[in-house]
Amino acid sequence: MIKFQLNRRNTLSLLATAASWPMLAGAQTAAGTTTAATAAATAGATTQPATRPIPSSGEALPIVGLGSWITFNVGNDASARARCAAVMAAFFSGGGTLIDSSPMYGSSQDVIGQGLRIGHSRGESQGQKPSSVFSADKVWVAPGSRGPAQVEESRRLWGVPRFDLLQVHNLLAWQDHLPMLLRMKAAGQLRYVGISTSEGRRHDEIEQIMRSHAIDFVQLTYSLRDRRAEQRLLPLAQERGIAVIVNRPFEQGSLLRSLAAHPLPGWAAEMQSRSWAQFALAFALSHPAVTCAIPATTQVAHVRENLAVAARPLPDAQQRQRMAAATQDWV
Ligand SMILES: NC(=O)c1ccc[n+]([C@@H]2O[C@H](COP(=O)([O-])OP(=O)(O)OC[C@H]3O[C@@H](n4cnc5c(N)ncnc54)[C@H](OP(=O)(O)O)[C@@H]3O)[C@@H](O)[C@H]2O)c1
Repeated sequence: MIKFQLNRRNTLSLLATAASWPMLAGAQTAAGTTTAATAAATAGATTQPATRPIPSSGEALPIVGLGSWITFNVGNDASARARCAAVMAAFFSGGGTLIDSSPMYGSSQDVIGQGLRIGHSRGESQGQKPSSVFSADKVWVAPGSRGPAQVEESRRLWGVPRFDLLQVHNLLAWQDHLPMLLRMKAAGQLRYVGISTSEGRRHDEIEQIMRSHAIDFVQLTYSLRDRRAEQRLLPLAQERGIAVIVNRPFEQGSLLRSLAAHPLPGWAAEMQSRSWAQFALAFALSHPAVTCAIPATTQVAHVRENLAVAARPLPDAQQRQRMAAATQDWV
């Protein structure tokens, strides 16, 4: 995990700068229109997020991370990049550490690198204590020997000395890339090795790799709508001591759009959920095999709302059942 300098004070300064740009001011106003829900939902967000241990090392990882697919693929649009930097600033300021990306996500890696540099230089100029990023990226290249070159290019874009975690994206050419990543880890060029899938794809193969290779992480889809991982992969991760990163906890927003047609049950407050987003995220995070989830967002208010879930008690087994039963016809 590398340190860079970003904290509450320079975050506020970054957000103030961002707000002074016309497009971002608009974005904040748009966020402001949802403020009743968002303000209630983010109450408690200043508390540090809960952590869970990475089973292979015991290292504590904050349970809410940040995805970057689509949301950070903004090309060279300066104001959109500033908005991504503001999301990152709010994420770090709220105690988040793990950011997930991939060479598949267009300009996202470069946008993350820019956000890290902005945080670093602002912190440095103000002589402040560094915060931390847990860099989680992927290898996504056809079979052959191009894996190391892709990893090096990704590392250059992020501007980190080495990655904390590299995952074989969607198992693409995993027979080539997984041994490479394990060698990098053995040589100290990488801290953790993982594999990823989404939307229930290739679970049989994921299971075989989890059983036969010394991986630290598996990334998969798990949500109120898509619970397939409960059948074999989540119990297996617990059994084998493999950390689980949940992607698509909101099904790229479509789960939240389905739920929005229905009122949030009054009893959701008992489990500290003040919006459908918090309800859905709390459900995904409360499975005991899950180490963290990585919702993606373009909005500062939403990153705070998501982090707030990690600062409150998560639903227990009985509450999880109630959440699933109440929403099964709506998701
Ligand atoms: N195979 C793989 O390795 C794989 C596959 C898929 C995804 N992933 C990773 O997982 C990450 C997350 O998955 P995802 O991007 O597909 O979707 P997601 O995180 O399930 O949903 C993202 C959407 O949710 C909205 N959102 C976020 N927080 C919200 C809140 N508090 N209230 C209302 N809306 C909210 C965002 O809109 P706003 O911008 O308006 O907030 C965005 O449109 C990806 O970014 C990527 O890093 C990996």
